[in-house]
Parts: sequence; structure tokens; C-alpha cells
Amino acid sequence: MAGETPVEQLSERAAQHELERLAKAIAVANAAYHTHDAPEISDAEYDALKQRNQAIEARFPHLKRSDSPSDQVGATPAEGFGKIRHAVRMLSLANAFDEEDLREFDDSVRRYLGVEAAIAYTAEPKIDGLSLSLRYEDGALVSAATRGDGETGENVTANAREVDDIPERIEGAPEILEVRGEVYMSHADFEALNARQAERGGRTFANPRNAAAGSLRQLDATITRDRPLRFFAYGWGEVSTPLAETQMEAIARLEALGFRTNPLTRLCAGLDQMLAHYRMIEEQRATLGYDIDGVVYKVDDLALQKRLGFRSTTPRWAIAHKFPAELAWTRLLAIDIQVGRTGALSPVARLQPVTVGGVVVSNATLHNEDYIAGRSNTGEEIRGGKDIRVGDWVQVYRAGDVIPKIADVDLGKRPEGAEPFAFPDHCPECGSAAIREDGDAVRRCTGGLICPAQAVEKLKHFVSRKAFDIEGLGAKQVEQFHRDGWIREPADIFHLQARYGEGLQQLKNREGWGEKSAQNLFEAIEEKRKIPFARLLFALGIRHVGEVAARLIAQHYVTWDSFVSAMDEARALEGQAWEDLLAIDGVGQVLATSLVTTFAQEAERASIERLVRELEIEPAEPPVRAEGSPVAGKTLVFTGTMEKMTRAEAKARAEELGAKVAGSVSAKTDLLIAGPGAGSKAKKAAELGVATIDEEGWLAMIEGL
Ligand code: IVH
Repeated sequence: MAGETPVEQLSERAAQHELERLAKAIAVANAAYHTHDAPEISDAEYDALKQRNQAIEARFPHLKRSDSPSDQVGATPAEGFGKIRHAVRMLSLANAFDEEDLREFDDSVRRYLGVEAAIAYTAEPKIDGLSLSLRYEDGALVSAATRGDGETGENVTANAREVDDIPERIEGAPEILEVRGEVYMSHADFEALNARQAERGGRTFANPRNAAAGSLRQLDATITRDRPLRFFAYGWGEVSTPLAETQMEAIARLEALGFRTNPLTRLCAGLDQMLAHYRMIEEQRATLGYDIDGVVYKVDDLALQKRLGFRSTTPRWAIAHKFPAELAWTRLLAIDIQVGRTGALSPVARLQPVTVGGVVVSNATLHNEDYIAGRSNTGEEIRGGKDIRVGDWVQVYRAGDVIPKIADVDLGKRPEGAEPFAFPDHCPECGSAAIREDGDAVRRCTGGLICPAQAVEKLKHFVSRKAFDIEGLGAKQVEQFHRDGWIREPADIFHLQARYGEGLQQLKNREGWGEKSAQNLFEAIEEKRKIPFARLLFALGIRHVGEVAARLIAQHYVTWDSFVSAMDEARALEGQAWEDLLAIDGVGQVLATSLVTTFAQEAERASIERLVRELEIEPAEPPVRAEGSPVAGKTLVFTGTMEKMTRAEAKARAEELGAKVAGSVSAKTDLLIAGPGAGSKAKKAAELGVATIDEEGWLAMIEGL
């Protein structure tokens, strides 16, 4: 670069200084590029820094630094954080929004356990931060991981060590102890941080939660050191010996070990006390000095927690009671129509920007045409039948992370001449007819694969975090590549290098890309040729097939090939393969029909096959805790009355142990568990020669697992 001393003229001392300067500059550039997605220098400048560093090292090999950028070749930053697989999954919580929901939660707990007496719960604030799992072995902190997708999180150990509330060593703890809790930032620290950032021309954060997340997820842990993060412990993952017999005692134990726990945690004898504590916390909310978004209740008795267990993503023994949403009034400037990956036409409100609960909101969802017209899906009036028109004053609300919504409209302020909104009956993107099927609240574009908006949304979904998660290929890049005809369908992503990668010329010449970023992209794509079955299925973006359903389906069929054959066999929407599909927990008629018809559509099928040819699909892993289980991979049927556990509990336990639970006996059934009063199912099992045991036999079989 201009003004620099040529390498061959550098003295040894100058060279040493220069290497130090370059190491710093390259580290800063790496952080800007990989962590903030906001490169501060061009790729050419970056390459020049690295080349100069190498040239100096070549001339003075003995001056090479131990943290030399030449040894990193972008590796650490390119990979971002390492991954940590959680020994015990990190789940989220189901929500209750009012007293009624809470009552239903308490009822469902008692129903599941089959008890009528009141159950004791703990109640504590729900901290609005990000969850973290800290693993201690023999009292020493060995790792820290974010929640990630619940199964695998990011390794943020170095960063966690910079948080004052997180002890490096604890005394008197079980040999293995994973402490879980929330990392957050106080209001005061958040404001001071934003002020500092603004002064330095750095990026400011929308709210304390984002600031906490941005500060913890720093590849350079020294940045975390300068950010005042805090930590409240509220739970645990793997423990070699139980902490206590109740939630309340366990929390006290965590506190005795040196963790901060929330001082507003209380034991409640039943619903009334829970609600009273909720109101008390809500009253204190504004003066706590940190953000909370509700109250979490947990069954206090840990033996009961264990029995209650988990649904696919949430525990049955806990619930989050959310505070009511935050509100603000503003003007509706326009209504735009967006076309989603399944062709749904979604109206989006463009708003005069307004701050709602500390976040600036300028867009909100309007759901569908009925919602705009003031009707629910079933034709009943909402908002007292008031429709929404461009120019109206509307009330915006947001609750937690959800997309802001419009709750109300002020007719007194409606501008004269405002017209009712005419919802389009043609796709604004491809012009195809947009129709509403019977019973569907949503109008959909019928253009299918010819609709560019659907194609691009499908591609965005395909590369998203829970799908293929290709580093360097996000929504923005997909849009560009699609616009230029480089990627029309998922399979094209895997041809990108062969087609356009000759010497990387083409990609490298695009704006925003350089040799290094192009190379990184191709490497990231190559890495994803090997993909788990469930991720692939989710990534296809088939209507109604979400992440959980994709996982359950993959676990059922294990391999991609057997799944596809089953879809072919089920094409008539009847017969054994069809029944088998419907027997999967969580798969109903609607999902099953969507799945089977997608595979039966010629164009869709051909597109999927072109993709699959590029991939190595990993078979599904058996569900958690299946090892050592006598029923892993087996199909079980329960019938008759159970006395020691409810039917729901028995089913959930069996599934946790890797079994499939079916509703009826067939040749595929491996075991029937028959309680008193078993009728036709027991008879059929006998005819088919299916092994049958009673409840006691079942309990003996699963004891200790
Ligand atoms: S208990 C099995 N307690 O809320 C999950 N979670 O919406 C047990 N959170 O992922 C979680 N404060 O990050 C629990 N006092 C609290 C919490 C809390 C905040 C977060 C946590 C969780 C999310 C679920």
C-alpha cells in the first residue's frame, strides 16, 4: 500500500512492529467480516495485508508470531464458533397468555400425572436474554454453549469466562454439573454501551437482548470482556448426582455453589398464589433494571418433573406466562403484498415508524384479506367489524420476538376518501391467478414453479439456518443469484462452482465478492453436500412440513430411499403405506396429503431428484436416549387401562426410549401392552402372534432407564 516501506528495506525491528500491526489489522478485518457480517475493508485490501505479512515472514522466519495470521488462513473465523452437542437438549417453553391458559396448564399437569390434589410450583421472572449452558467437571468450568438449535449450540467458552457472574471454579458440586441460565444486560449497561458505540461510530443495538447476544457471540473474547454481561442460573442439564429433590432446593443449591439466582423466585401452593406472584413481578417490572417478558412456573417436585418429561420442544412441567404485548399508535402508509414460498399472498403493513417497547417498528403483518376486512377466518367480526384502510391510524403491538401485528384502528381519524383495501386476485409477482381454496384463509398464487417469488422464497428457506445453513449464502445472496439466473432451484447451488467457478473468475468479479469470499462460499457449499435426512426434508419447504414434523418423519423412515418409496406407495392416499404415514405422531391428513402430493407432482419431483443426486443423505438418528433401550426402533401399542401411569405418560416414555407408538395392532406391531379391559386389540395381537405384556411387565422392562 502507498507509503509503506518495501519489505526488502525493512530493518529487523521495523519488521517485528510491522508483523504486530498486521496481525491486529487482519484480526479486526476477520471479526468485521465473519462476526458482524459487515466487512470494513475490501477483499483486495485484505489480501494485500495477508500478502505483506507473508512476505515479511518469509524474509524473517524467526520473527513469525505464534498467532500469525498465515497459520489461520481465515480458518478460525470462517468456521465461526465450534459446535457443542448438548448432553441434555436445551428446550424452550410453552406460553400462557392469560389466566385461562395457566389453568389449562395446571389441569394438564394433573391430568397427565393422574392426580387431583394441588401441585406446588415455583414462580420466577422470565429473563429476556439468551440461554447458556455451563459445563463443570470436578468443579472446573470446561465449556459453555449457547442453545443453538437445542441439540447443538455454539461453543462460547472463552466468552463465558469473561462474564463476572460465571465462576471458573465451584466447590462441593457434583462431578459433572451443567448449569443453565440466562445471559442478559442491565438497562444501565445497555445504555452506556450504546452511547460508547455511537461515539466510536460503531453499531448500536436495538435492545438489551440483542446487545447481550451480540456481546456474547464474539469470536474475539476480549470484546466480550468489555461488555458488562450478567448471568442468572435457573436450571441444569446433565448432573452426575441429583442436586436436590425439589426445584426450590436445587436453586438454593446453585446459589450456594456461587451462582446468582433470581431473588424473585417463590414457591407457590397453587394457582392463586401463582397469579398473585405474577402480579407482584409485573408491578416491579419497570424498576428491576433489566428486561423480563413474563413469569416462568415450574413443577417443584423433581420426581414429578421427571415423570412429566418433554414434548418435542417443550417440557410438560413448566410454562412461561407472558406479559401482555406492548402497544403504540401510528399511521398506515401502504399495504404491500408479499408472495411466500408456498404461494401465499401475505399483506404487509408499511407504517410510519414508531417505537413499541423500545424497538422501532415500520412493518407489521396483516395476516390475510379477512383480517384486513375485519373478519376472522370463520367469518365472525373482529375489531368490532372495522376494516383497515391505507391512511388509517392503527394500533401496533408486539409480544416478544414475534412479528408486530395490528390490533386496532381509530375510525375517528380515518382520512376522508379512504377506500376499502382491494385484495388482489392475481399474483403481483407472476400475474397468475391467486385463488382461495375452500376453508383456506389464505389466497395463493397458482404459478407454482414459474412464479419467481415462490422460487426465491423456497431458495431462501432452503439455505436458512435450520435447513442447509450454508455460510455465506443468505437471503441477500440468493436473491442476487436468482435474479441473475445463476440459481433457479436448490440443485443449482451445488453446480455453482462447476459452472461459474472456473478460476472463480465470475463470482470474484461480482460486486461484494472477492477471491477469498468466493472460495469460502464454495467450501461452505461442499461441506453441506452431506446432509441429515431431517434437515433435507425440512429444507424442501413442503407446505405443513415444519422442523419437528420433518424430524419425526425422518426418524420413522430412517433412510431417504425408504421414505421416497413409501411416498410412492401412498400415492393413492390409501392403503398400508398411507396408514403408516398417518400413524406417525404429529402427522395428520393435511400434512400427509401435502407430502404425498408434492412427491407425486412431476416437476417438483424432478427438481427434488436433481437435488438429491448432488447429496449424500445421512440416515436419521434414533431419538434421544434410545441406547440400551429394549424398545428402540420397535412399534408398540397400548390398550386397556393403565394404573401406575396415564396412557399419555406411557406413550411419551416409550417414545423417549426410541419406540414408535401406534394406535392399532398390525403385522408391524412388535409389542402390545395390555391393561385390564383390553378388547379387540388384544384379540388381534393374539391372532397375529404379537408379543403381549401387562402394565407390570412394561414397568419392569423400562425400570431404571
Ligand atoms: S426454564 C426446558 N426459566 O426462556 C426449558 N427459562 O422461552 C427450561 N428463560 O430457552 C427453561 N428466563 O432461555 C427458564 N427463569 C427462566 C427463564 C427462562 C428466561 C428463557 C430460556 C428459554 C426461554 C424459553
